[in-house]
Amino acid sequence: MVVSKLLGAILVMEIIVMSGTRFGAVDGLRMDYYMMSCPFAEIIVKNTVNTALQSDPTLAAALVRMHFHDCFIQGCDASVLVDSTKDNTAEKDSPANLSLRGYEIIDDAKQQLEQQCPGLVSCADILAMAARDAIFFAGGPVYDIPKGRKDGRRSKIEDTFNLPPPFFNTTQLITMFGQHGFTVQEMVALSGAHTLGVAQCSSFKNRLTKFDSTNDVDPSIDSNFAKTLSRTCSRGDKAEQPFDGSRNSFDNDYFNSLIRKAGVLFSDQTLYTTPKTRGIVNSYAMNQAMFFLDFQQAMFKMGLLDVKEGTAGEVRGDCRKIN
Ligand code: HEM
Repeated sequence: MVVSKLLGAILVMEIIVMSGTRFGAVDGLRMDYYMMSCPFAEIIVKNTVNTALQSDPTLAAALVRMHFHDCFIQGCDASVLVDSTKDNTAEKDSPANLSLRGYEIIDDAKQQLEQQCPGLVSCADILAMAARDAIFFAGGPVYDIPKGRKDGRRSKIEDTFNLPPPFFNTTQLITMFGQHGFTVQEMVALSGAHTLGVAQCSSFKNRLTKFDSTNDVDPSIDSNFAKTLSRTCSRGDKAEQPFDGSRNSFDNDYFNSLIRKAGVLFSDQTLYTTPKTRGIVNSYAMNQAMFFLDFQQAMFKMGLLDVKEGTAGEVRGDCRKIN
């Protein structure tokens, strides 16, 4: 069963790769984009990510989330990496982005790449590769992604209203992900990224007191787990609650937590509460290979969101500054 799923995964990736030109182009991006111009680009990013994650494995989650927050706003164009200036408050200073971490890993890879092949490797590609490498480092699926994204010239706090908040229900999540071209199943698969990392109390404390007009505590939480969340919150708004029992391992534990009514965010648990998505949660909880396959395909697709090519963007010299 597992072997056939893995073979299936390889076959699907082959089909995705071959559906471009014979050089593996997807939407104008190419698997071998840097092969001639900067042949060590992939390896430099991978080594940088591996070194950083060896000293702090919690940063795998941070890189995956950063790539998601980049792609959903203005496309995958590294707009999330830009620092605010006196004339512009950038995306990274939005409340939704304040707990993003790991910017220094991207800076580190960028610096090395600027030495090796100046002006060639975009910050958007570095972030996409870093997220992919972080998933593999944490034990998730391995997959190739096309490169050639250009960096954007706009990063504005007001654009970030398009990030999903943790109080969204399934219908709202389906609508928001649908606007980016994702199916219901792809939305659930992508939510599985919460197999990595933590949420701060401020992201779920509304579930623990005065939840709604009839319930003090969100009725979709297991009562013991509600106590766990309350204990976490007793340490303050920034206290961290892991999404599942293995915060640094990419596995399907997250989906098993949802079945036990131990989802941390309302937007996590709603995937199990709602009949429309419950079956998908059950499938991923039962079959990790199926989750891995769907997740890698959905991440591949997310990495192509509204990418800028050619003169629509630039290759920044410093990922924190528009040229
Ligand atoms: C389905 C809608 C989603 C919502 C409402 C959501 C919301 C959140 C929230 C509120 C946090 C915790 C932030 C904090 O308290 O500091 C979080 C963390 C995280 N999110 Fe999501 N998210 C969603 C989808 C995704 C997707 C699609 C990905 C990636 C593909 C992702 C990756 C992550 C990761 C890895 C973390 C942990 C970060 C860390 O530990 O540093 N999320 N998310």
